[in-house]
Amino acid sequence: MSENSSNQSAEADIHRLKQSIEDFNYQYYVLDDPSVPDIEYDRLMRELIQLETKHPELKTADSPSQKVGGKALSKFEQIEHEMPMLSLDNGFEDDDLFNFETRVQDRLNSKDTIEFACEPKLDGLAVSILYENGVLIQAATRGDGQVGENITENVKTIANVPLKLRSQNIPSRIEVRGEVFMPKQGFDELNLSQKEKGEKPFANPRNAAAGSLRQLDSKVTAARPLRMYAYSLGVLEGGEISDTSSHSERLAYLGKLGLPLCKETSVAKGAQACLDYFRKIGELRNDLSYDIDGVVFKVNDIALQQRLGFVSKAPRWAMAQKFPAQEELTVLNDVEFQVGRTGAITPVARLEPVFVGGVTVSNATLHNQDEIARLGIKIGDTVVIRRAGDVIPQIVSVILDKRPETAKDIEFPSHCPECNSHVERIENEAVIRCTGGLVCSAQRKQAIKHFASRKAFDIEGLGDKIVDQLVDAELIKDPSDIFKLTLSPLVSLERFGDKSAVNLLRSIDAAKSTSLAKFLYSLGIREVGESTARNLALHFLSLEKIIAANEEALKDVQDVGAIVATHIYEFFNEPANVVIIEKLLSAGVNWPDITPPSADAQPMLGKTVVLTGTLQQMGRAEAKAKLQDLGAKVSGSISAKTDLLVAGEKAGSKLTKASELGIETWDEQAFVDYLASL
Ligand code: IVH
Repeated sequence: MSENSSNQSAEADIHRLKQSIEDFNYQYYVLDDPSVPDIEYDRLMRELIQLETKHPELKTADSPSQKVGGKALSKFEQIEHEMPMLSLDNGFEDDDLFNFETRVQDRLNSKDTIEFACEPKLDGLAVSILYENGVLIQAATRGDGQVGENITENVKTIANVPLKLRSQNIPSRIEVRGEVFMPKQGFDELNLSQKEKGEKPFANPRNAAAGSLRQLDSKVTAARPLRMYAYSLGVLEGGEISDTSSHSERLAYLGKLGLPLCKETSVAKGAQACLDYFRKIGELRNDLSYDIDGVVFKVNDIALQQRLGFVSKAPRWAMAQKFPAQEELTVLNDVEFQVGRTGAITPVARLEPVFVGGVTVSNATLHNQDEIARLGIKIGDTVVIRRAGDVIPQIVSVILDKRPETAKDIEFPSHCPECNSHVERIENEAVIRCTGGLVCSAQRKQAIKHFASRKAFDIEGLGDKIVDQLVDAELIKDPSDIFKLTLSPLVSLERFGDKSAVNLLRSIDAAKSTSLAKFLYSLGIREVGESTARNLALHFLSLEKIIAANEEALKDVQDVGAIVATHIYEFFNEPANVVIIEKLLSAGVNWPDITPPSADAQPMLGKTVVLTGTLQQMGRAEAKAKLQDLGAKVSGSISAKTDLLVAGEKAGSKLTKASELGIETWDEQAFVDYLASL
């Protein structure tokens, strides 16, 4: 083949590959509906890169292979925006939204309800991206709104930013504006790898996005999981859009050109409907894949936008309604140490109370020594505290500039703050533990609370506060003392009436009849949850046999590995624990014998069953227990070893996978019918 014709066929191949990859990118990033598996995509990309390497003269700047970054810069050039990049007025109270609508109406001299485009306020950085004849030629930061920095090479590496626009009628010049951000998952992964590399993690996705976008070496940006959503239009020359179109129609037009848009945008008529949208997005906020800090409302009619104009740096036709801040600064006043049921000692930060994420926060866990070292935190420091959704408040970082001279190191206790027993730090574990066991009143309280809890002895009326009182008054030292309680000391407790005392004694008495599985669970053996307790009971059938079992024998129990076997073995070889068990039994705690299930009673013996979807007639836990009674092993994921899938409503990927693997599948009714037939 002559060089010429080889070049021609390479050109045709490159063209075909580029088209396919661009189509896939569009389906994946804009339509959110990928049509090919990742490996097929990777294969096409490899083929394209190979061809382009062989024929460098055929490599163009808009090729989808050019998302890897180029030569590093020595500095960013300045770019003057053709149209200023504005900012937004903020609102915080419901009234701010109603006042905004009123201001708009007054300005327009109209009482008509206004239609607003509603968009999540993405927590990232504003960018302007210019396409000429459909090709990305320039991108800039917002800067001061007039002049920004040239970050073209970096923006080109963002996975969902098209290097070339789609559709037939492409405008000759179009400036797209939008937000560059880092999705939550990408942020978590990035921070994990920062940690592994011994580098400083980023405080939040916004900082990570900013740090990634302002890299002189675009190869670094290319390796960061950035995304962009377009939210408005700047300069426009040519193209299919009329002056009378609305903002939401313009966004749809950008989508047609292949630009990625936020899926949660909407249109609302009037301030009340905007407020409803704001609340709905607030509820969705934690489940969104990206961080937002509020909602942006824009008058939808572009003609009205033009009549309204702007004041100084913000348009009169838009506003941002902000969520309560999820991060605030406060001071670490002190650190106290709390002892848990298994003796783990956790440092708890006592903070200057601060309003964050909609509540006042005055405590936060510091987890363990490693976390304290990671934060480099001292008492007296000013810290960033974060409370997102219902997640427990976290200390994110320390503001070193604000550290007072009087700041004190956090000292870990060498002795338990509750019982003064010595504290041990186990190798490879970040936690320190009190060695006091049930001598320690803090551990005792937690152990007794666990013992009385619903899934254990289920003693109604024996709540946490009463346990604290009973232990403090030394009426209870270990769980067996619960069964020795009498009326007169109970009624002498603060806020404890005759009636509640009688009721409590009655439920204590009733609780004596239990099951071996519940009894084992209630002992609070480390890492022995409900299901392990149940497996132990079914395997050994009697308490004596469990107490006598060695670690090897314990490892034969379903789901019991070496570590759990050691915990169980050590528990029953601690004489103090055996004494408590004996006291419980002599106090009258009892359970019915377990008859070894016959093969008839266990028709599912040896079968692996997976549950998925929502069950209507029983809970997941109940269904699992029933299956286990029948001898089945209940697993969490489908594999070739699965024998049966029980799929409730809204079953998802597990159902698909099961049918791909040809695994027998029952709906809930089939399962219920089967149980009834036994
Ligand atoms: S519109 C004149 N829409 O918020 C309109 N901005 O406080 C200017 N932002 O710099 C921007 N999501 O970085 C608009 N859906 C959205 C937005 C959004 C986030 C950011 C943007 C801007 C800042 C203004």
